[in-house]
Amino acid sequence: KKGGFDHFMLKEIFEQPQVLSDTIHPRIIDGFPSFTQDGINDNFWLHFNRISIVACGTALHAGMVGKAIIEKLSHIPVECDIASEFRYRNPIMTKNTLVIVISQSGETLDTLAAVRLAKLRGLPTLAIVNVPGSSISREADYTIYTYAGPEISVASTKAYSVQLSIMYLVAMKLAMTTGTRSFEEIRTLSKGLLEAAEASQQVLKLKEEAKFCAQQFAKIKDLFFFGRGLDYSLSLEGSLKMKEISYIHCEAYAAGEMKHGTIALIAPDVPVVAVCTQEFLLSKMIGNIKEVQSRGANVLLITKEGMEIDPELYNHRIDLPALDDIFMPLVGVIVLQLLAYYSAVIRDLDVDKPRNLAKSVTVE
Ligand code: M6R
Repeated sequence: KKGGFDHFMLKEIFEQPQVLSDTIHPRIIDGFPSFTQDGINDNFWLHFNRISIVACGTALHAGMVGKAIIEKLSHIPVECDIASEFRYRNPIMTKNTLVIVISQSGETLDTLAAVRLAKLRGLPTLAIVNVPGSSISREADYTIYTYAGPEISVASTKAYSVQLSIMYLVAMKLAMTTGTRSFEEIRTLSKGLLEAAEASQQVLKLKEEAKFCAQQFAKIKDLFFFGRGLDYSLSLEGSLKMKEISYIHCEAYAAGEMKHGTIALIAPDVPVVAVCTQEFLLSKMIGNIKEVQSRGANVLLITKEGMEIDPELYNHRIDLPALDDIFMPLVGVIVLQLLAYYSAVIRDLDVDKPRNLAKSVTVE
């Protein structure tokens, strides 16, 4: 059942190039994003001047990337909420707001409640869901299915990647319909997305490097992840994955925020995973890496090929394929998943069924 892999998690990590291709290809028609196969026609996207994304856990982290990308490409303001907070904060939902919920299982109770709340307020709901026929897909007005196939491991991996791929397609579609990007730009972006999906295959080859880094972390009790922009969202996902299965205490920080208090926790036995894939933020990240390094932190740098960073600033460097900045989360997450996976394996933990957790959270 595990297809020759030791754990479902590793099998599912390795399925990512395929499920990305399965999810993206049917939705790029003649070089442009299209959701007609999901029963959503082009006019649908014209009506919104605000978007609210609601989800939990890993799906929330995919939503955070989605927020950044939709805002960048289409200039439509997006809010991204934790579903269990959204329900109780009496969110302002103006007319022409599209509520997007993201869920692998389609059964997460708080996310389902967000759909119900939005519908009660008369707003259109769009669900991005992996499990066909699940409660959220039945109750939302529209569903875009991710084609990750069954995800068995409690730690979500391939579901995140395909959620991201749909976020990119939605952002491109909105940018195209609202005219904030030219058709030529959209065509280039669609091509970029397909290339990013293919590049995920290359990242799997970094498995041994991730294992080596996990071995360096064999004795640690605390770990930080930090990054800026999309790398901050990615850090949150890397940190969640790590704590969920390796039980190492981790925190993810927006790199520029560390010095406002948290840097007090940095010490020689507290390493930092510096996620640094965004070219336009490189000089700022270098400053932040210097800050933690001068407090004694060992730095694992996750960056992309061609980024010029003084080797004195890190203990180990992992190079991702050099894609356009906006697509880096698609390849970056794989290394973070592998790092978490090997950290759990080295500790001889139950990778697929971590303590205290269930695959879907159907309670409040
Ligand atoms: O099924 P959902 O996507 O709605 O689940 C949301 C979270 O419970 C889920 O992503 C959780 O955080 C994962 N175990 C993380 O790996």
